[in-house]
Amino acid sequence: MPISYANLLAGLQAAPKVWLVTGCAGFIGSNLLETLLHHDQTVVGLDNFATGHARNLHDVRHAVTPAQWARFRFIEGDICDMTTCQDAVQGVDYVLHQAALGSVPRSLLDPVTTNTVNIGGFLNMLVAARDAGVKSFVYAASSSTYGDHPGLPKVEDVIGKPLSPYAVTKYVNELYADVFARSYGFTSIGLRYFNVFGPRQDPEGAYAAVIPKWLAAMIRNEDVAINGDGETSRDFCFIQNVVQVNLRAALANDPARNQIYNVAVNARTSLNQLFELLSQELNAHGVHYDRPAVYRDFRAGDVRHSQADISKARTLLGYEPTHTIAQGLKVAMPWYIDFLRPAAGY
Ligand SMILES: NC(=O)c1ccc[n+]([C@@H]2O[C@H](COP(=O)([O-])OP(=O)(O)OC[C@H]3O[C@@H](n4cnc5c(N)ncnc54)[C@H](O)[C@@H]3O)[C@@H](O)[C@H]2O)c1
Repeated sequence: MPISYANLLAGLQAAPKVWLVTGCAGFIGSNLLETLLHHDQTVVGLDNFATGHARNLHDVRHAVTPAQWARFRFIEGDICDMTTCQDAVQGVDYVLHQAALGSVPRSLLDPVTTNTVNIGGFLNMLVAARDAGVKSFVYAASSSTYGDHPGLPKVEDVIGKPLSPYAVTKYVNELYADVFARSYGFTSIGLRYFNVFGPRQDPEGAYAAVIPKWLAAMIRNEDVAINGDGETSRDFCFIQNVVQVNLRAALANDPARNQIYNVAVNARTSLNQLFELLSQELNAHGVHYDRPAVYRDFRAGDVRHSQADISKARTLLGYEPTHTIAQGLKVAMPWYIDFLRPAAGY
């Protein structure tokens, strides 16, 4: 019988540990940081603000008590610098490695930088964590590793060829993690996230994810552009599900260690359905959007459909998603509206 998430959190709070969250100023990292501090953990955070923001750390500071915030040590630094990684892992029990350059289009435009950070930085972190003898190393892998394999739902051990440099880097992370287990007995857990969404996901810039990007356009009453025919589908995963899996993975024992897991909900939402869902949810919050979607070309490197089989995470980690896409949007919508309303001026 897997431990309930509530009991897992209570257990953590009763026996605090030291965590390292890389990419802590980013979307997923800052949500991990908030949950950990909320449960009285000591956290080291590492970020160079390449795509993360000081405002995310500021938000976390306001969401926790001063005593909890005092248990956070921030290192502004680059995972491409080995000394920085070695400093960050000192005295750490669990590593949640999130720092990377996300985005398929970014990697197509600049494969070298994506490679340097996502592979070189990852390897630095792996070596530093191994040498420091951390108890557990959990890292952000990606559903992009399924590449051109058409099978649905996606099962962890059946992958295709990568469709972008970004996908290559995330797959190489898995290969390195596996080699470190074989060669040095240093085991880790890779979490293949599928389209995560929630508060603090950056809505701005050319590489913004679809949900915050569309909500920004809708709240500002601008056109929403859909790539392709809108029937492209994704398994959208609310951030709280992702936080849960990270904590479960960090605390897991054999045989749940040295594994790769899908992290999603096992549901598929097309872009056309997403457009409707976002309009309805905004409407329910008094924001009315009635422009039709604007269709444009398919985007290079995008997979057509994505849906995760999550039975492995369920069975071995005890993961049970707490939020569907609709439930996640309900929770997150006040944040989006507050953050994106024109007067916010962030
Ligand atoms: N958001 C998703 O849907 C999704 C899906 C699959 C995988 N992932 C992976 O999850 C992780 C977190 O993604 P996110 O959505 O929070 O993105 P994000 O861009 O919000 O966060 C990444 C963080 O890493 C930091 N960073 C980047 N390069 C760094 C470097 N060289 N040194 C130190 N810090 C650095 C950034 O400044 C940022 O704060 C990434 O590894 C990403 O590839 C995310």
